Amino acid sequence: MEDPGQKALATLRNAVAERITRGKIVDKLAEFSYPYRELMTFYRCAIMEVETKFRVLNEEFTLGDDCNPIATIKTRLKSPESILEKLQRRGAPFSVESIEENINDIAGVRVICSFQSDIYMLVDALLRQDDVTLLEMKDYIKNPKPNGYRSLHLIISTPIFLHNEKRQMKVEVQLRTLAMDMWASLEHQIRYKKENESITESIDDQLLACAELSAEVDRRMQRVHDETM
Ligand code: GTP
Ligand code: MG
Repeated sequence: MEDPGQKALATLRNAVAERITRGKIVDKLAEFSYPYRELMTFYRCAIMEVETKFRVLNEEFTLGDDCNPIATIKTRLKSPESILEKLQRRGAPFSVESIEENINDIAGVRVICSFQSDIYMLVDALLRQDDVTLLEMKDYIKNPKPNGYRSLHLIISTPIFLHNEKRQMKVEVQLRTLAMDMWASLEHQIRYKKENESITESIDDQLLACAELSAEVDRRMQRVHDETM
C-alpha cells in the first residue's frame, strides 16, 4: 500500500520542481538570451507601427464627421510565461526561431470601436495599405463563438525599419465594439476566477444571454448612429 503522506510529499516535490524549472527557463528566456530580447524588441516596434496606423486613421476619420471611430487602443506583448506555455501546448520546439514561426500573437493590438460599422471601415482602410499583408482573418462578429464571444481577429504581417534592414513582423489585431469589449472582459474575469472550478451550464447560459443582449445594444446603437449621420 502506498503511504498517503509519502504520495502527498512526492506530489508537492514534483510541483515545486516544476515551478523551479519553469521559473528558471522563463528567467533564462527573459533575462539572459539576447536573441530573445532582440525578437521582443522587434515585436514592440511592430506594435508601435500598427498602433500608429490606427491612430492616423482615427485622426483622418474624425476630421470628416467629428465622431471618433476608435474609442481606445490597447496593446500587449505576450509574456515569456505565456510563450512557453503555448510552445509546450503545441509541441513546438523551444527556440527563438520557433517562437517567431509558431506563435502569431506575440504582438497584440486591440482596437475598441464605437460602432460595428467602424470596425469594417478601419479593417478595409488598414488592409488597403501597401505594407500590410493579411495572413489570417477570423470574423467572430458574423460568426460568434458558441459561448457568445464576438470580435474581428486579424493576423497581419507588416515591416519594421531597422538601421540596416527591413523586417516583416506578425501582429495580431483584435477589433471589437465597446459592448463586445465589456462582455469579453467580464467573461474573461469570471472564467479566470473560476479556473479551477467547473463553470456550470447555468453560468454559460447566462453569459451567452448577456452576449446576445450586448449584440442587440450594438445593433440598436448602430441604427441610431445611421439615422443621425
Ligand atoms: P489561441 O491564440 O491559441 O488562443 O488560439 P486561436 O488563435 O485559435 O484563438 P482565437 O483567434 O480564437 O482567439 C485568440 C484571442 O481572442 C484570445 O487570446 C483572447 O484574447 C480572445 N478570445 C477568444 N475567444 C475568447 C472568449 O471566448 N472569451 C474572451 N474573453 N476572449 C476570447
Ligand atoms: Mg491566437
